[in-house]
Amino acid sequence: MITPADGGVRHNGVRRVTILGSTGSVGQSTVDLLLRNREVFEVEALTANRNPERLAEQARTLRARFAAIADPIHYPALKEALAGTGIESACGTQGVVEAAGRPADWVMAAIVGAAGLAPTLAAIQCGAIVALANKEALVCAGALVMQEVARCRTTLLPVDSEHNAIWQCFDRTRLDAIERIILTASGGPFRERNLEDMRDVTPEEAVAHPNWSMGAKISVDSATMMNKGLELIEAHHLFQLPLDRVEIVVHPQSIVHGAVVYHDGSMLAQLGSPDMRTPIAYALAWPDRIEAPTKRLDLAAVGRLTFEPPDERRFPALRVAREALIHGGGCPTVLNAANETAVHAFLEGRIGFLQIVETVERTLDRIPEGKLESLDDVYNFDTEAREVAARLSGIHAFPTGTSALTDLL
Ligand SMILES: NC(=O)c1ccc[n+]([C@@H]2O[C@H](COP(=O)([O-])OP(=O)(O)OC[C@H]3O[C@@H](n4cnc5c(N)ncnc54)[C@H](OP(=O)(O)O)[C@@H]3O)[C@@H](O)[C@H]2O)c1
Repeated sequence: MITPADGGVRHNGVRRVTILGSTGSVGQSTVDLLLRNREVFEVEALTANRNPERLAEQARTLRARFAAIADPIHYPALKEALAGTGIESACGTQGVVEAAGRPADWVMAAIVGAAGLAPTLAAIQCGAIVALANKEALVCAGALVMQEVARCRTTLLPVDSEHNAIWQCFDRTRLDAIERIILTASGGPFRERNLEDMRDVTPEEAVAHPNWSMGAKISVDSATMMNKGLELIEAHHLFQLPLDRVEIVVHPQSIVHGAVVYHDGSMLAQLGSPDMRTPIAYALAWPDRIEAPTKRLDLAAVGRLTFEPPDERRFPALRVAREALIHGGGCPTVLNAANETAVHAFLEGRIGFLQIVETVERTLDRIPEGKLESLDDVYNFDTEAREVAARLSGIHAFPTGTSALTDLL
């Protein structure tokens, strides 16, 4: 995580904001906060993939200057919905990258998957403060993204609730006093199921998270606990800590989001209701704080908070992600691309729940390890892994990966 001491940029007290993935779960929570704080924010650009109606409505309501839709099929509908408003529009991955590169003080990176990497890099290269929800960008190209953040002297703020919690407790001026960090995991909807019962769970059951309301892909990742594996890799890059100083603890209530342990034995933790508007608000207003309409914690009503170690026998995704990071090079890129493809195949009803992580592991086994030194390498590993995982899952079409990267080189 890189947060220069000079704090957030504002022009005449107003922060100019872009939201990449404004129509998604994190995107809509960000829009909600902007609407509640209109006097201190203005909107430069918004983007979506396949939801021109919601994108146009958000652009009109927030008086955005620019709206981009990734899937060109939906461009005519977007243009029609914006007719007469004066709001500029574009389409395709290049249109989304263009939106990310427009002048803004603060950019929310909330596209799901590796498709978010190119726009996130474009925002970093423009020098905006980048609030990162798109963990897959750091999983598939962590070292390269962090190098770019440092080169461009950009501020990168964690939005993922666990990393945001750790950031709130992490004393950057006393790095040598920090022993380790702790990410909590809810354990997902199948925390108490045995392996046999998990074999036949449906996509509907897998996306029904007990505590959080989220997009489909991250909900399935939470159910397999691959989400925590991705977050382990994300935390390693954000806080520049080795794996043995990043601990995962299952905490089914999702009240304690993350903690930092200091050498004197102190543990500082951040608590809050499971609502993304709190971490988003912290990043949106940083270094100030704004009002967020989230349910306040009543500790007496919460009563009990419980913690347990993760069960890596029933949830092997954590081990697979950890091993991918230890092997390094292109392995995390392959892990991410194979997981996106396998989750897609599961949601399409083509493979079973337990086959998601099996497919990821088999894809990692099939692709020779190699160095990851450029965005070209990211693109090549990502593309090959999607093809292998799709073959293993018996699907033909798979989610977009890093296609716009080649144009950023
Ligand atoms: N949801 C949470 O509570 C939460 C918490 C922590 C971290 N995160 C992370 O935040 C990111 C977003 O999660 P989410 O739950 O908000 O996902 P989501 O609800 O599925 O929304 C994803 C957004 O990305 C857009 N998008 C999808 N594919 C795209 C593509 N190929 N090119 C450009 N845009 C594309 C979608 O547009 P359309 O709407 O048009 O499809 C939508 O705006 C993920 O990386 C996730 O891991 C989410």
